[in-house]
Amino acid sequence: MIDIHCHLIPNVDDGPSTIENSMEMISEAIKLGITSIITTPHYNKSIYRSDSVPDNFYKLKQSSRSLGVDLLLGYEVFLCTSFYDIISQKRKYTLNKSKYLLFELPFDIMPVDINNTMQKLHSEGLVPIIAHPERNKYFSKDMDKFINLIVPHCLVQLDAASIAGVYGLNVKRFTKRLISQNLVDFIASDAHRPEDYKNWYPKALENVKSWAGEEYCNKVFNSNQNIILNSY
Ligand SMILES: [Fe+2]
Repeated sequence: MIDIHCHLIPNVDDGPSTIENSMEMISEAIKLGITSIITTPHYNKSIYRSDSVPDNFYKLKQSSRSLGVDLLLGYEVFLCTSFYDIISQKRKYTLNKSKYLLFELPFDIMPVDINNTMQKLHSEGLVPIIAHPERNKYFSKDMDKFINLIVPHCLVQLDAASIAGVYGLNVKRFTKRLISQNLVDFIASDAHRPEDYKNWYPKALENVKSWAGEEYCNKVFNSNQNIILNSY
């Protein structure tokens, strides 16, 4: 499997604070059969400083080489504060410098201009992937809003913990609905600590397998992610 959303780099966001914690997370991912990981620190200038991301990533990549995992760099971009950086520096903040941009929206209040923002990203040659829309209250409460505003413009990534039920029954039900309507492109760990791999990822895998079958699982945990790794 391939993980395209997680927080593994030490000391750059709300993920691990030491390289030992990062290594522990990578070991848990490998135990599950994850062979490639795009680690995606938060890019949100109002909360985190991103200056040390490249150096800390490189150190982690060196340290984890012996574990046999392919560690790559991307970002989880908070569009509301970062839109102009994304446009002006195009592929600096995308997944492994591909055209795919992983972004998140505020959890409680929907930004007013989603349509225009998405169109602008497309016109710059980027392919937006929305991270964990099931955790955005305005979507989980209003499927039509999700279908009208997100489906035409974005690929969709769900969090394993949401599918496992960590964020409550409503969020879990919404993930099941999205999966049953074939509106999901990727499932990722969004891991911030080892337990996120150990506890929630296998549970999500089990749920998706029982909801949609093995072939579907392979698509959303592995083969769609492979398209990103092989793109430019
Ligand atoms: Fe995340």
